[in-house]
Amino acid sequence: MSGFSIDWLNLREAADRRARDKSLKDQAIQWLVAAENPVAVDLGAGTGSTLRALTSPEQQPLTWRLVDNDTTLLDEAQRRHGETHRIESCKADLAVLTSLPLQGARLVTASALFDLVSENFLDSLATALQAQSQQPVGLYAALNYDGTTHWTPQHPLDDVVLTAFNQDQRTDKGFGPALGPDSAAVMERLFTQAGFRVYTASSPWVLDGADQAMVSELITGIAAAVAENPDIEASALEDWVQFRQANAATGTCSVGHTDVLALPV
Ligand SMILES: C[S@@+](CC[C@H](N)C(=O)[O-])C[C@H]1O[C@@H](n2cnc3c(N)ncnc32)[C@H](O)[C@@H]1O
Repeated sequence: MSGFSIDWLNLREAADRRARDKSLKDQAIQWLVAAENPVAVDLGAGTGSTLRALTSPEQQPLTWRLVDNDTTLLDEAQRRHGETHRIESCKADLAVLTSLPLQGARLVTASALFDLVSENFLDSLATALQAQSQQPVGLYAALNYDGTTHWTPQHPLDDVVLTAFNQDQRTDKGFGPALGPDSAAVMERLFTQAGFRVYTASSPWVLDGADQAMVSELITGIAAAVAENPDIEASALEDWVQFRQANAATGTCSVGHTDVLALPV
């Protein structure tokens, strides 16, 4: 789980795809393609996972404006999709909301992003989308971590590690204090207040031995995130990591997420 490397994004994509709530995803696609020459603006696009999830063979080619601050990821998305889609790559820091390239957007999308952001960011985004005068804009935000993780077999340190991990999830990731597990609930409240109809659905990762490589990276990432937490002794954490890695091929792991769709009323 080394930052947002292409390898990590590749590893998680199949689990993300299985996890996405199909009904919300279909509703988002319907909203997008109902407009003429629609533009989707994907925030924190990475290598284009949201584009791939929302694309079907029968669709007309759409315009995807991919926004990220990592040019390696944007270049990879362009390499994968430049010939099949109209791709507009935008290198931008999302934290500077006034610079977001929203013009002409029909749908703003984000996957695995909004648990990194602050309440102020979401409040400003809701206001900015509501204020788009060219046409009404919807928001499809998938895979927002909800703070729950369940392992089998269990280990005595699971709850302590999860509490520490969720504390880390709330630290500043470049947008002010991160919402972490609260992101979907806050999004629902703010977008409802801004005049959108908001739909939510559960979208957990359900992982087993077939996902061993991803689970192994997840364990490494969780351990790194909690390593400095004063409530966990280094030797206890090491035991936990060894136990989890030893069971990655035969155990299970579920990680809760929530998908959110906000459409103008
Ligand atoms: C967890 S990854 C998700 C990537 C992609 N949406 C997916 O589902 O595979 C988060 C993405 O947000 C981008 N990101 C994080 N902070 C950012 C910022 N301040 N400005 C622009 N992009 C940012 C990262 O570079 C990364 O591509």
